[in-house]
Amino acid sequence: MTDFVKISINDDQSQFCIMPKKFVDQDLERIKYMEVFEDDIWVVTYPKCGTTWAMEMIWMICNNLDYETSMNVNLEDRFPFMELSGIATGFPTDSFEFCKNKPRPRYIKTHLPVFLLPDQMWTVKPKIIYVARNPKDTAVSWFHHHRHMHGYEGTKEDFIEAFVKDLMMYSPMNEHITEFWKIRNEPNILFLFFEDMKRNLDQEVKKAMNFLGKNYSQEEIDKLCKHLSFESIRDNKMINKEVELKKLMEASGRDPSLNEFNFVRKGQVGGYKKELSVAENEKLDEYVECPKLDEAQFEYKF
Ligand code: A3P
Repeated sequence: MTDFVKISINDDQSQFCIMPKKFVDQDLERIKYMEVFEDDIWVVTYPKCGTTWAMEMIWMICNNLDYETSMNVNLEDRFPFMELSGIATGFPTDSFEFCKNKPRPRYIKTHLPVFLLPDQMWTVKPKIIYVARNPKDTAVSWFHHHRHMHGYEGTKEDFIEAFVKDLMMYSPMNEHITEFWKIRNEPNILFLFFEDMKRNLDQEVKKAMNFLGKNYSQEEIDKLCKHLSFESIRDNKMINKEVELKKLMEASGRDPSLNEFNFVRKGQVGGYKKELSVAENEKLDEYVECPKLDEAQFEYKF
């Protein structure tokens, strides 16, 4: 069992994050003081907000639409996850070192909130792509992820209760998003929504191209949008985490041949409507009516 702790920095309890204790022991400090480069590309999200989808989009745009490499090298190798070394089994044993030592330009994925990111992020100012998603779809997706990827045995009701109480890993979600929303207009930050990618991927691809200083023809963009479609990502073994899921199941003594879970699961906006009970929905309504959101003048897209 993983032990979780509530992390704050400099006794400032107004900002906290729930993380495995092991993260504090092995990652917290080395991430805070890591060297950041101007040509790094970071994708930062609260988990389940469309991280993987955005990573493939960004990687392809930055790499001259290199389908050959994309179809042959796992996304987790091209765009590795930085924290949780040895906790999220299936990733390189020391994922921090793996990210740190990647040839430049480095592509780095993290779910850390603003206050736990490296100090140099705010002075060196690499390009950061942040993706937000509404908390109801995120919580449902996070529940399925916990159940299938981490062997969570609680009910959906238990999970939603813990989520709205900000007890799940990387919680609190509201603060995670609003702290980035406050700095969204910085020139090195691109703030995207899962819901916009779903409704008009072509437009979001163009936004990302513009941000990354890349130019492709409409024909190339159409092809990229097809490559990034739900069906294509779901069936793409380099992206859909089949490999990681198998390793995670084996590590926790479960039989991977019994797996019925797709990491690229439903990919819907509003899918929560079919999955949440009235009581769970109401709990999340309260969660969404958070004073911090008013303060940041932020509204979720449902
Ligand atoms: P669901 O569980 O709601 O289906 P992350 O990469 O941050 O863990 O996010 C995973 C979520 O993004 C999953 O949501 C997954 O289905 C969704 N997703 C991934 N690729 C997608 C795509 N091409 N179109 C729509 N949703 C996608």
